[in-house]
Amino acid sequence: MTDISLLDALRTQRSTRRFSPQPVPDEAISSILKAATWAPSAGNRQPWRFVVVRDPALKRRIGEWYDQGAGTAYGYRQRGNAPQENREPTFSDVPVLILVCIEAVSTNPGPGSEFFRGASIYPAMQNLMLAARAMGLGTRPTTLHRHHEADIKAHLGIPDRVDIAAIVPLGYPGEGEHFGGKRRKPLSEVAFNDRWGQPLG
Ligand SMILES: Cc1cc2nc3c(=O)[nH]c(=O)nc-3n(C[C@H](O)[C@H](O)[C@H](O)COP(=O)(O)O)c2cc1C
Repeated sequence: MTDISLLDALRTQRSTRRFSPQPVPDEAISSILKAATWAPSAGNRQPWRFVVVRDPALKRRIGEWYDQGAGTAYGYRQRGNAPQENREPTFSDVPVLILVCIEAVSTNPGPGSEFFRGASIYPAMQNLMLAARAMGLGTRPTTLHRHHEADIKAHLGIPDRVDIAAIVPLGYPGEGEHFGGKRRKPLSEVAFNDRWGQPLG
């Protein structure tokens, strides 16, 4: 575990795209997942489930579906046809894939209830990514697998009542990667004082 403050982790955690082949210790994975379970969830129902994938054949297969999803989303057919800026290492090159799943649980009906499902998994994913950052490990939220979610669920025996909300690749940052340097809008564009549009001051 590196000695890093919470605010430093928040400031420097960013999406890692290239990973070192160096294996991730089992204890680090357990600690990261434990931190994920410290997240809040609606009614404290804790609907998160995690599938840790390290089997090379499974990573390759999931990666193929992810790449196809990327192709559909960005309008190219095969990885090799992707524009240069969209070409990045495949999931096969990542030591660990964490499938961040959400089990269907009943939520109180009412205004905003449609938000509660997502709102009950993304804090856990963020905890996971920040805990990884504290250990010097890179992550990235990914969702393009959703184009082939049914295939992935069938392949891994994930029940119908469970959604794969995201797939988070996990590993030590590869060449050219660094923490920090996020591109974000200035606070003045996104935060207001008392009324919409009034500068915060
Ligand atoms: C809900 C969500 C879905 C995302 N899906 C993908 C994805 O499918 N593939 C990907 O490479 N990055 C994905 N990202 C990562 C974003 O592109 C990234 O967070 C954003 O560009 C900001 O970069 P940073 O995380 O380095 O600050 C996703 C992020 C979020 C929050």
